[in-house]
Amino acid sequence: MKKTVLVSGGAGFIGSHVTVELLEAGYDVVVADNFSNCDRTCFEGVKKITGREDLPLEVMDFCDLKAVKALFGKYHIDAVIHFAAFKAVGESVAKPLMYYKNNLESFLNVLEVAGAQPGGCNVLFSSSATVYGEPDVVPVTENTPRKPATSPYGNTKTMCEDILRDTVKASEGALKGILLRYFNPIGAHPSALIGELPRGVPNNLVPFITQTAIGKRECLNIFGNDYPTPDGTCQRDYIDIVDLARAHVYAVTRMMEGKMKKDCEVFNVGTGRPVSVLELVNAFEKVNGVKVPHKFAPRRPGDVTAIWADPTLANEEMGWKATRTVEETLKAAWAWECHLAQQKEAGSDDTGKATSLKDQILQAADKANEAISDAIDKVKEYSALSPEEKKAKQDEWNSKLTEAAEKASDSVKDIVDDIKEGADKLFKGKKD
Ligand code: UD1
Repeated sequence: MKKTVLVSGGAGFIGSHVTVELLEAGYDVVVADNFSNCDRTCFEGVKKITGREDLPLEVMDFCDLKAVKALFGKYHIDAVIHFAAFKAVGESVAKPLMYYKNNLESFLNVLEVAGAQPGGCNVLFSSSATVYGEPDVVPVTENTPRKPATSPYGNTKTMCEDILRDTVKASEGALKGILLRYFNPIGAHPSALIGELPRGVPNNLVPFITQTAIGKRECLNIFGNDYPTPDGTCQRDYIDIVDLARAHVYAVTRMMEGKMKKDCEVFNVGTGRPVSVLELVNAFEKVNGVKVPHKFAPRRPGDVTAIWADPTLANEEMGWKATRTVEETLKAAWAWECHLAQQKEAGSDDTGKATSLKDQILQAADKANEAISDAIDKVKEYSALSPEEKKAKQDEWNSKLTEAAEKASDSVKDIVDDIKEGADKLFKGKKD
């Protein structure tokens, strides 16, 4: 009988690529996502690539324990791959509680329910090289000491690693766990039907490069050129998303076939090849024949100088190895950006419509923000006047304040109109 893998966060960048590889390897997959940080583009793409129109999708939040229990009641789950988490480093610094709550609670729920399954369950957690912090020695092996993370996002990865280890240990064989520590996943599926779809301004390097090359962004800032590296820019281990997705198939199969050496194992998922930011930008320009306007900018807080993997353990123990060259990966990333642009141009996709609608709403929101701030400033200015001054210029102030309030109110109406217009367009698109 086919084994079933639950992919939480399966509609996102990594989750969608993993779903494709699992289906192609003969597993049944249940995709679960709450679409808090992605739309349906990649889920639809997965169905197209695999021809699996019947691919089960559960729209749900893993922080909802009842929903997680219901999900495990509905399907017989042999393994869970847990991606459902927030992942923006900067945002996590600004909103730590949101990150701790979401990333920890969802994983605790998965473990609680998976651990109670009759016959047990296998759990694969998507960890990150961020747990190594700024390493003293590169490349890093799985035995390289973890260091305090530089962000709440990073802390949630370290904490979830520990939570999985402890829970597996206490489960007396009911749970098996694998922690995969990803280096820098980039690229897109060779079909160009799925890829990275960041909301708003991308934080990560490659989406910023592709969006700059296509003209969505004016110029790429290279954060820091004074690092102690050969060309002064940071070095990372960029791993092709399809290679990375395949590592999950190897890991799941290892768990299912009882080949694990310990009940909780950890593997680095990287290439072992350091590439600097500048090298990556140059390679992208060369292989795709496009320019990426770029300039050097100050260092980005929290960035480590250089980190790359020693992937020997994954190569030898799991039999998995990264196979794609940086050039192939950068070609795929560009093909995906071009595909998105064509879809937008043709106006035939929900993503394109949603992106332009979003831009329209964001612009309206900026205007509203300005108008409201202006109104508040005027009210403050008026409040600070003495009673005599207020009396003397009463009429002038009446009209100033009324005008500011009307502008603010109109700008809010504009947002509402844009939202309504956008919703109509999208609904019409669906009917067509
Ligand atoms: C970050 C996270 C990592 C996560 C990964 C993928 C940390 C410390 N890092 O890695 O856990 O798995 O994202 O989501 O938690 N750069 C520029 N200009 C840009 C953007 C990036 O020069 O506009 C540079 C950065 O300074 C860095 C390199 O490109 O040197 C890679 O950055 P990025 O893609 O954001 O990944 P990381 O920070 O390495």
